[in-house]
Amino acid sequence: MEETVQSRLVSKKNGQWQAEFGPFESYEHLGERDWSLVIQALDNFSEEAAELIEPFRFLPHWRLDDLMVSFATEGGSVGPHIDNYDTFICQGSGKRHWRVGARGNHAEVVAHEALLHVEPFEAIIDVELEAGDIIYIPPGYPHEGVALEPSMSFSVGFRANSAISLLSGFADHIIDNDLGGQLLEDPNRQAVSHSGEISNEDYQNIKSQLQNLLDDESLFKNFVGNFLTAKHELDLMPSDEPFGHEEVTELLGIHAIKRLGGLRAFYFEDTISNGVCYINGEQITFESEIAPVIKLLCDQLVIMPSELVSWRDNKDFIRLMATLLDQGYWFWVEAE
Ligand code: SIN
Ligand code: CO
Repeated sequence: MEETVQSRLVSKKNGQWQAEFGPFESYEHLGERDWSLVIQALDNFSEEAAELIEPFRFLPHWRLDDLMVSFATEGGSVGPHIDNYDTFICQGSGKRHWRVGARGNHAEVVAHEALLHVEPFEAIIDVELEAGDIIYIPPGYPHEGVALEPSMSFSVGFRANSAISLLSGFADHIIDNDLGGQLLEDPNRQAVSHSGEISNEDYQNIKSQLQNLLDDESLFKNFVGNFLTAKHELDLMPSDEPFGHEEVTELLGIHAIKRLGGLRAFYFEDTISNGVCYINGEQITFESEIAPVIKLLCDQLVIMPSELVSWRDNKDFIRLMATLLDQGYWFWVEAE
């Protein structure tokens, strides 16, 4: 029902697929069967649901996309399709029948303007999932889950970025940062006799214009850090009044801190000790001596007071922590 929540209703009426995007006002008209409601980025809105992501921390979090939930009535499905995601589908309640086909050339079918399906496929996996079961579906494998009764399934999706999305993100990054505007220069240009020719040397110069940007390690790394931490819209609640530094020091001794659901915070293996990390699409710099505690912030969802004992007196850490709390990126929770 909220504007900020990405949702989709998919149903089948008289054999015809229907799809619409939320927010939705009511569901009564849909009847008792053959429809499903899919909500994207549930981890941004529900702390309880976000817990489902935690067991998947054996994979680096930069690969994570989001947690999606789908509620379906009997017969409900989003139809046979292929995703660009590694997905772990966790059956939360009820039963669903999953069919997964082999990777291959599966013709696409536009079942509705908002639904890209594939032709019927032969199943290599054909299972019924019950509450607690998990099925892993790699990108490129056609699949379809049909609810056998009212049921909910949670998909922990890991995105595999394509070169196209990286390149278009990189272009945005250099435009936003007013970079890459250097014009091609050729002070040694000689008069030519074949004016229609692009010489090997000219071609190399043109290619180098782009290549130099990619080879600029600090520029490209900064882009990757920003790109991987900028994701779905967050359910941010900045604090009304800025936290005082003494207050933060005191509270860190009593309460645990928890990262806002869906917030992305990463660091690079080889540059964290230089005092750089990335949070929610921005580069954050800090004193290199606090790098170990910044690692904790990036690695863990919750940090206990006992883990911060040696950092509570560090002014640089407290200053940064106060800003992160003010922004609503981290919040206080009961220490268990
Ligand atoms: C669903 O749970 O209805 C769809 C999930 C998926 O196929 O990726
Ligand atoms: Co899918």
